[in-house]
Amino acid sequence: MKKFIVGNWKSNKHPQSAQQWVQEFDQAIIKPWDADVEVIVAPSFPLLPTVQWHSSITPKLANLKLCVQDISPLAAGSYTGAVSVENVQGLGVAYAIVGHSERRRYFQETHQDVANKVARCIEADITPIVCVDDEYIAGQAAAISSDYLNKCIVAYEELGAIGTGHNEPVEHVKEIVQRIKVVFNEVDVLYGGSVKPANVKNYLEISSGVLVGGASLQAKSFAEIVTAVTV
Ligand code: PGA
Repeated sequence: MKKFIVGNWKSNKHPQSAQQWVQEFDQAIIKPWDADVEVIVAPSFPLLPTVQWHSSITPKLANLKLCVQDISPLAAGSYTGAVSVENVQGLGVAYAIVGHSERRRYFQETHQDVANKVARCIEADITPIVCVDDEYIAGQAAAISSDYLNKCIVAYEELGAIGTGHNEPVEHVKEIVQRIKVVFNEVDVLYGGSVKPANVKNYLEISSGVLVGGASLQAKSFAEIVTAVTV
């Protein structure tokens, strides 16, 4: 089974520190990861070209995949400030995080907004990583077209575990992963919430991978997380 390691930088870094991250990540990675591991990094939109370019000229990172942290629910058009799937064409974006709890909380995103984002992604050949917490798994799934449900990856992220250092107990995550698989029709399910090099292995055993926030900002700790799945 394929494993996914996703690093979400959120609104951190600038072009120079993004470039430095790529160089440090290259140094910290022992060897290129196997084909059954997908290593994905999600910088903010303006940093995508920097990460794309510098990883493309770094042989060990040739398989590093790019992800956006959000995408417009609308197609290209007169929507000032929105970043559409068309805007990121040619930037090597293979994945998009949609419905992160920070988007729901600070930008009032609804299940329907998230469902529209899922549709835009799938039409553009971008795999959506749909974030849910256990209270709205079914509500979120109900808003997404049934044709698209199993084209998603789902990230289970409990609000109290994000950025707090209080990672969710593995047994509970295991239970929720099974529930999501039923509702979303056998998708890959990731766990996110205070994942660190020291706890990542526990989650990899019961899920398809991890969504990492804080611990992805330092190239060295993200490399340790990647190494945990590759060795
Ligand atoms: P964290 O963030 O790893 O810093 O808890 C996870 C996330 O928000 O995706």
